[in-house]
Amino acid sequence: MFYAFVMISISMCAYEILSLILPLKFSIQTKILLSLILISGLAKGFLFVRTPTGFDIYELPYFIQLFISGAYNFIIVALFMLVIKDFIFVACKVFRINFPTHNASLFVLSLALCSTVYGTYEALKVPAVNTHEIYIENLGKEFDGMKIAMLVDIHADTLTDKNFVEAVVNKTNALNPDLILIPGDFVDGQVKSQGKNLAPLKNLKSKFGVYGTTGNHEYYFDYKGWINEFPKLNVKILENENVIFTSGDSKLILAGVPDSTGGQMGLSAPNLKQALKGIPENSPIILMDHRPSNARENAKFNISLQVSGHTHGGQMPGIYYLVKRANKGFVRGWYDVEKMKLYVSPGTSQWNGFCLRLFDPSEITLFILRTL
Ligand SMILES: [Fe+2]
Repeated sequence: MFYAFVMISISMCAYEILSLILPLKFSIQTKILLSLILISGLAKGFLFVRTPTGFDIYELPYFIQLFISGAYNFIIVALFMLVIKDFIFVACKVFRINFPTHNASLFVLSLALCSTVYGTYEALKVPAVNTHEIYIENLGKEFDGMKIAMLVDIHADTLTDKNFVEAVVNKTNALNPDLILIPGDFVDGQVKSQGKNLAPLKNLKSKFGVYGTTGNHEYYFDYKGWINEFPKLNVKILENENVIFTSGDSKLILAGVPDSTGGQMGLSAPNLKQALKGIPENSPIILMDHRPSNARENAKFNISLQVSGHTHGGQMPGIYYLVKRANKGFVRGWYDVEKMKLYVSPGTSQWNGFCLRLFDPSEITLFILRTL
């Protein structure tokens, strides 16, 4: 994975130096400086490397990470624009039309720079609340109006640190939720370096508690460490388990399955049948599954609502379609899957691997349950 990522990144960088930097009528010093800034984005490759001492890129200081992320974001954003520019360049050559090489490169440079700055700001800002009323069959009247807040893909790390997580926690508590769900990708990095950045989660407040499931990123760094850490943050992880909430004569079931990465690593794999063991009949079921791609199989288990994340909403036009393809058509928002409703959150934060959001804002999701 590391070598593939580095080879692709080096190829993109080399193409951009040839197509974007060289045609500019700038001094040689300016061109070298711009090229070096682009090349600094290649340091993103070290996301996938762990030194023998256990050090990872997430431990680098904030501004170094921000600079590397900005350079890498620029490489990705400019790539799409350069491909279009070079397509027009080739067409002009074929039809013998004069092509303004310097001006076209300058335009791409300016547009990509503005998009990078805006997209990086969008990725790092504290998200707004997105509220949805959802009508659920068989929901008892006691649960009518129940408020469920969902945070997902928090990916706490040096870029979205304890100040960011604290701001999200305060904004969530201000909603006065009855229940809080966090279906995966809490953090990137190890407990010893990132525990402090996720620590504000322990201040989340709700009547029925805070429940989560693992996402793929919980397995990449320090699974055992995080599984021990979550109870200290008052987060109960549901790994093929359920919990039954009772109010008056009504019951509401919350179930959770782990991410499939767990099974691939010899840890617990998602098993919805086991997750639903012992539940009463005819009570509505809310399921947390980090990935939306299992929704069609999950819908066969009489689930009322599945909540997922993982896709980050596609992050930017162009990549959106790749993400859609990789997640069986589910990227962002509401989907009807047979009788089950699926909500895919774009995530509450950013992922350091590509810290950019263009026309794809993150959110704190608030569901308000309604009886049919
Ligand atoms: Fe994620």
